[in-house]
Amino acid sequence: MLSASAPITNDPARAGAAIAAGALVGLPTETVYGLAADATNAAAVRAIFAAKRRPINSPLIVHIKDAAQTSVWARDVPAWAGELARAFWPGPMTLVLQSNGHAAREVTAGGGTIALRVPDHALALAAIAASGAGVAAPSANKHGAVSPTRAEHVSASFTSTIVACVLDGGACTVGVESTIIDCTSTHPIILRSGAITAQQITQVTGMSVTDRIERLAVADLGAAATPAPGQARSHYAPRARVELAESTARALERHAQLTAAGEHVVLLLGDVVTTDLDNSLRNDALIATTRDDVFAQELYGALRSADDRRADVVIAVAPPHGPLADATRDRLHRASAPRDH
Ligand code: TXA
Ligand code: MG
Repeated sequence: MLSASAPITNDPARAGAAIAAGALVGLPTETVYGLAADATNAAAVRAIFAAKRRPINSPLIVHIKDAAQTSVWARDVPAWAGELARAFWPGPMTLVLQSNGHAAREVTAGGGTIALRVPDHALALAAIAASGAGVAAPSANKHGAVSPTRAEHVSASFTSTIVACVLDGGACTVGVESTIIDCTSTHPIILRSGAITAQQITQVTGMSVTDRIERLAVADLGAAATPAPGQARSHYAPRARVELAESTARALERHAQLTAAGEHVVLLLGDVVTTDLDNSLRNDALIATTRDDVFAQELYGALRSADDRRADVVIAVAPPHGPLADATRDRLHRASAPRDH
């Protein structure tokens, strides 16, 4: 039997009421759309894991309406983490803190820490406030697949039997997931790169920052004992194969080679603008920009378009510079990793 896709709404009160009633809701944020539930409702949180087919050992981020809510969920918050919250919330930053046990066990995957974020999106904040709760929300995609950056991406992935409604907040303005900062040690540790950079964290805290991403990106995570939760090898991956190239020149060589071999190739180019491309290539270039922020905004939508066009291969050149260069390179790297699911 065919089931309908999840209905789209513009009403944050409706979304908040559904969350309060224990349902799942598609939640817009400035980074990507989340699949949201009341973070104190164990059954609702379990439904998130089931809907995404997400391993239960991968904890969720709790979205709160303002920094003052931190003490509802966390204890022993270091002063420098408070400074980060004041500087970057609402915004694309998640803080990992000591949990005080208020969240359902499933949210923290039974661990002693909790991830918190205040999203910079008026509708999301209105829905969270209307729910009267903290809202656990992973990205609203099936496990390992490309994160959604529009309401339609969410409603296309989940039926109305699973998701009560998707709150439509338009296209996500950042486009890649939040920077995750572990604040449970003596100094900040970046667990996932995003729009808030190590340099900005150092500026605010005066502390040096450890970056665990780089080590994870090059390590063979298949064999690693304890990769950070959620840092599986293949992630953010479309059905098409993803290959990275160092520059547009290299990408075009590879494009010619693969096209000659009969493969349908599309291009995501972060170091060139459309007008610099030959006419014959413009149709294949799903992204052509030298702006790292534009590349980030368009990245996940372009990976989805590649699949819609039934491309065999996506050749991508990450933007070389800018605050979002690291985050976009990280996502492309994971999208190109060997598939383990
Ligand atoms: O921008 C974002 O962060 C989006 C929007 C919806 O807020 N959310 C998001 O959630 O990307 P998700 O579940 O797709 O990724 C969250 C990551 C996972 O890798 C998870 O393992 C990690 O955060 N995480 C959650 N709680 C954690 C904790 N207590 N300690 C370490 N990592 C944690
Ligand atoms: Mg995700």
